[in-house]
Amino acid sequence: MEKEEDDHHHFNNSSSSSSSQIEKWCGHEFLYKFNGFWFTKTYLKTTQQVLQHFKPLPNDVILASFPKTGTTWLKALLHSIIHRHSPNSSDTLLLNHPQELIPSLETNLYVQNGNFIPTIIEDQNNKGGGTSSRILATHIPYQIIGDLLRSSSTCKIVYITRNPKDTLISLWHFLQKSGNVFASDPWELPSAVDQFCRGIVPFGSYYDHVLAYRDESRKKPEKVFFVTYEELKENPNGCVERIAEFLGCPFEGGEDQDLVGEIVKNCSFENLSGHEVNMSNEMPPSGFPLPYSSFFRRGEVGDHVNYLGEEMVRMIDDVTREKFHGGGFVYGV
Ligand code: A3P
Repeated sequence: MEKEEDDHHHFNNSSSSSSSQIEKWCGHEFLYKFNGFWFTKTYLKTTQQVLQHFKPLPNDVILASFPKTGTTWLKALLHSIIHRHSPNSSDTLLLNHPQELIPSLETNLYVQNGNFIPTIIEDQNNKGGGTSSRILATHIPYQIIGDLLRSSSTCKIVYITRNPKDTLISLWHFLQKSGNVFASDPWELPSAVDQFCRGIVPFGSYYDHVLAYRDESRKKPEKVFFVTYEELKENPNGCVERIAEFLGCPFEGGEDQDLVGEIVKNCSFENLSGHEVNMSNEMPPSGFPLPYSSFFRRGEVGDHVNYLGEEMVRMIDDVTREKFHGGGFVYGV
């Protein structure tokens, strides 16, 4: 405990990323409030680096999401849609974890083995000139990264969200996979529900995160495409076609229709989760503290019923009604 307090002291006094509000999370982790959202110490620093250095290019495709809402799946899909005419595009998924294939601004581009490497973003900034698109992912809330993303009038954003209860359960499981990182003080489910409802989770509040991207997709449908995990599960072919159309690379009839089915199949949970690279217990070189395999668990809609008791469901549903339904977004209960 003494060490943690030292860390806070150091953190608060030593960097421009100081935050006056701090909450205990789990393990040795604390969450820091920045512009209304909660970040781990590492993500607060890397988010600020992104804000300082990242410049969107006109052809960029930004995959935005709250953690555990289907980011990995959408990474595989976006890559497959955009590179569908490249030779060996399906082999690419066999050999590369989707998290490596599409870098995350605040994870892969900056944090390599715990060190910040701003030059990596320079390389990314230099790619994607001409006609080819860079695909980059982020969990940074629109309230924080929106100005930057609007600075390129043509870069496009694809946002995925997921039922709040499944999102929370997925996050809760994800942290269990972190071995001894959180073992000393695990995130018990009652605290997880309580903190989730109060918005105190990395990149949270989940609700504010979702609402801002959704609002922008309604105001500027040519800029932001909003899709839910449940829609993708229900009608993956239709979603893939709509995403391709939104990105300006629509599928035509005939052979292209077969391609849609192939992409959906290649990116299915059943398919991806069986690839050696995705089953690996190796840690990514980015320094991300969880193994590659941790991004694949059950991949189902409604798994929360197996974990959340009645009272927990009631607590989350109450917040969902207030935040989502109250704002006209009837989703998530
Ligand atoms: P579960 O924990 O409910 O299984 P993210 O990629 O945003 O971290 O989200 C991870 C969640 O998406 C996990 O959910 C994971 O199993 C699921 N997932 C990963 N790949 C998927 C795929 N191809 N299809 C459907 N769900 C997938």
